[in-house]
Amino acid sequence: MIELKSERVQEIKTDALIIPVCEDKDIYSAKNKMFFPKGLSEYKEFSGKEGDKIAFYGMSNIAADRIILLGIGKFCDITEETFRKTAGKAVKDAIAKGFENIAVLIPDAKKLEIGAEALIKATGEGAYLANNIFLEYKSKKEKKPLKKIYLSAKPENVTQVKKLFAQIKTVCDGTLMARKWANTPSNDKKPKTFAASIIKAAKQDNIKTTLLSEKEISKLKMGGILGVAFGSEEKPFMVILDYNPEGAKETYAFVGKGVTFDSGGINLKPGSGLEGMKFDMCGAAAAAAAVITLAKLKSKYRIIAAIPIVENMPSGNALRPGDVIKSFSGKTIEVGNTDAEGRLILSDAISYVEKEYKPKVIIDIATLTGACVVALGEDIAGVFSSDKKLAKAISDAGNSVYERCWAMPMPLDYKKLLKSGVADISNIGASRWGGAITAALFLSAFVKDTKWAHIDIAGPASAKKASDYCEAGGTGFGVRLISDLILKDRLKNV
Ligand code: BES
Ligand code: MN
Ligand code: ZN
Repeated sequence: MIELKSERVQEIKTDALIIPVCEDKDIYSAKNKMFFPKGLSEYKEFSGKEGDKIAFYGMSNIAADRIILLGIGKFCDITEETFRKTAGKAVKDAIAKGFENIAVLIPDAKKLEIGAEALIKATGEGAYLANNIFLEYKSKKEKKPLKKIYLSAKPENVTQVKKLFAQIKTVCDGTLMARKWANTPSNDKKPKTFAASIIKAAKQDNIKTTLLSEKEISKLKMGGILGVAFGSEEKPFMVILDYNPEGAKETYAFVGKGVTFDSGGINLKPGSGLEGMKFDMCGAAAAAAAVITLAKLKSKYRIIAAIPIVENMPSGNALRPGDVIKSFSGKTIEVGNTDAEGRLILSDAISYVEKEYKPKVIIDIATLTGACVVALGEDIAGVFSSDKKLAKAISDAGNSVYERCWAMPMPLDYKKLLKSGVADISNIGASRWGGAITAALFLSAFVKDTKWAHIDIAGPASAKKASDYCEAGGTGFGVRLISDLILKDRLKNV
């Protein structure tokens, strides 16, 4: 549905030709400017400021029904993200107007400080991600995605980036897969259904899938996963995806928090706190979709995803505050708060992955704490690692795909906050301050001697409001991040 074209853009027959226009610099080649509306600089209503928009109809020199100019702001502020957002805006606007197809003109990379590849990649991502609407539960499908989006670039660039373009689509499909899982309501996303859905999606590729049932989890003595599931009618599962290409030199493991609904358990969340808790499996969705994506793209590394899946509910069987459980590692945990459930299931999965697969690096991704959202806001994830190089590799990947990650401290003296009087460790900090850090320190206690990082995506995993290339709801945060991390070989020197 998205296609890169090198033919003359004025000959592409579409509902609209979209042209991003910079406020203070000409960013097009002379050839492309030939069909621009004349006297543009005279129009008072359009100066190219971000958000500016103007349409021209009945242009005799182009095949498209109309030209729409979109302002992208000042030259010095233009980044790759500008093009993701502009392409996203163009697509969303076209969908709202009921168009079927558009063409987006890509500026001359030579006139920008962004390379041709990055420019096409960003535009493609923004357009592709924006052209997706979650309509599963709508009786009337009022909006329809565009049938075709053409990106028009210079011929030499088109051949150069053909392969990259196919890769962009695969990675974006991964993001859309994660968004769909996230947006599915919890009544249609019980642990069993969610686990089966992941296995089904992974089966298409050269991935070995394993589904651990409650019986097996119980045999393995994973007290964290079992404990959180006590209160729910639904049994827990653990999904393991193992992509192991021939000759793989390194193994990287991702662990994703899969709480299909987080009520808080006996420490029941207040009404407003329950909002959005269907998204508490977004770490699982990101880890699964990323491994599926990397397998499709034939990564040279062995990549594991370990995904514990539970529902956190209160009931007569539920875990109680004060209970002590025994984790897979053998460590005992005092449950200070049943709402700190994510770390209980992750601790089992992390130590299991370390023991079973001996990966070079373990990265867990989880909607773990409200405290992380307080610290970094809703759009930035927190990265926690005692390995500075690993934390930097993750935040570099985040900057490159605009899934921003900020390295947070791991002060060892804060570990004392997790002391328990009766067990080896408590699942909550003695102080309510620094809650994202004590959560990360708790997880670190279950890693023996492997390089490990934790990404807290409680903020960016979902969004209450739509943005330029994402609807309100699950964002798929983490899929493009992990894909970039592995595809660009950023873990090589960690
Ligand atoms: N799933 C929540 C974290 C969360 C909060 C995600 C808001 C998205 C938005 C997690 O299980 C949780 O409840 N954490 C508690 C921990 C506390 C009890 C130590 C929290 O953040 O309040
Ligand atoms: Mn919780
Ligand atoms: Zn949770």
